[in-house]
Amino acid sequence: MNNKSIGVFDSGLGGLTAVKQIMTELPNENIIYFGDTGRVPYGTRSRETILKYTRSDIRFLKTFDVKIIVIACGTASSAALPMIKNEFDIPIVGVIDAAVYAAVRATKNKKIGVIGTSGTIKSREYENQIKEYDSDMRVFSRECPMFVPLVENGYFDTPVTKLIVEEYLEEIRRHGVDTLILGCTHYPLLEKVIHEYMGDDVTLINSGAEVAKYLKKKLDCENAHSGQTDENQYRYYVSDDISSFEQLGGIFLEREINGQVNKIDIEKY
Ligand code: DGL
Repeated sequence: MNNKSIGVFDSGLGGLTAVKQIMTELPNENIIYFGDTGRVPYGTRSRETILKYTRSDIRFLKTFDVKIIVIACGTASSAALPMIKNEFDIPIVGVIDAAVYAAVRATKNKKIGVIGTSGTIKSREYENQIKEYDSDMRVFSRECPMFVPLVENGYFDTPVTKLIVEEYLEEIRRHGVDTLILGCTHYPLLEKVIHEYMGDDVTLINSGAEVAKYLKKKLDCENAHSGQTDENQYRYYVSDDISSFEQLGGIFLEREINGQVNKIDIEKY
C-alpha cells in the first residue's frame, strides 16, 4: 500500500484524457496534475527544448513527493523520456508503450495509422515500437500540428475542426488502416469528429486512456495502491491563465474543478 499521490503532466489540457481514465480505473488515488499551459505547444519545439521542459515538469511534480509520474504527453514521452528516464529516482511512465500494446492487439489487417505532433512523429518512437512487435506491420504516420490549438481553444466539434480532420486524415484513411493511434493526448478531445471521419471499422487508440490502464496493472503488481477511503484529492496546477483551464478542463472531466487550479512559475523548477 502506498498513499502518496500520482503525478501527471502534459503541456496543457491533453493529459486530462489520462487523468479521466485514472479516476475511473483507480478511484482511491490522489492525483496532482500539471498542465504547462504557459509553454504549450511542445510538439513544434526542438528536442532540446522538449527535454528542458520535461525535466522541469518532473522536478515540479517531485516537490509533492509523488509515488510515480505519468508523462501524459506523447511528445515528451517520445522525444524526451527515453533520454531522461534514468536521471530521476522515481518511476516515470509515458504513453507510447501502452498505446502500442493496445494497437498491435487491436489490428486485424496489420495496418496501423499514427497521428501526433511533429515532435512525436519525427522521433519515430511509435513506428519503431510497433515494428518491434511485428516487422510485418505497416505504419502510416502523420503530423497534425493544428489539432493542439483547436483543442486548447475548445474547438472540439466545429465545422473548422471537421475540415482540418479531413485534411490530415485523408491519406491515412485511403491506406485502409483498421487501427488509428491518437498519439497525442490532446487528440481524444477530437475523438467524435475523428471517429465520424474514419468510420466504425477503425479502432481509435486513446494513448492517455491506455497509460491509465497500464498504470493500474503496475500498481496492482507492486501492491502500491492508495488505501485511503476518504474523499480523493485532485489538485491541478498550470503555468498560465487559470480560468480557461478550469472551464475547458471541467467540461472535459465532467466535474467541477473551479477553485482547485493553481498557477505556478514553472521557470523556477
Ligand atoms: N498533448 C501533448 C502530446 O501528447 C502535447 C501537445 C503539444 O503540446 O504540442 O503530444
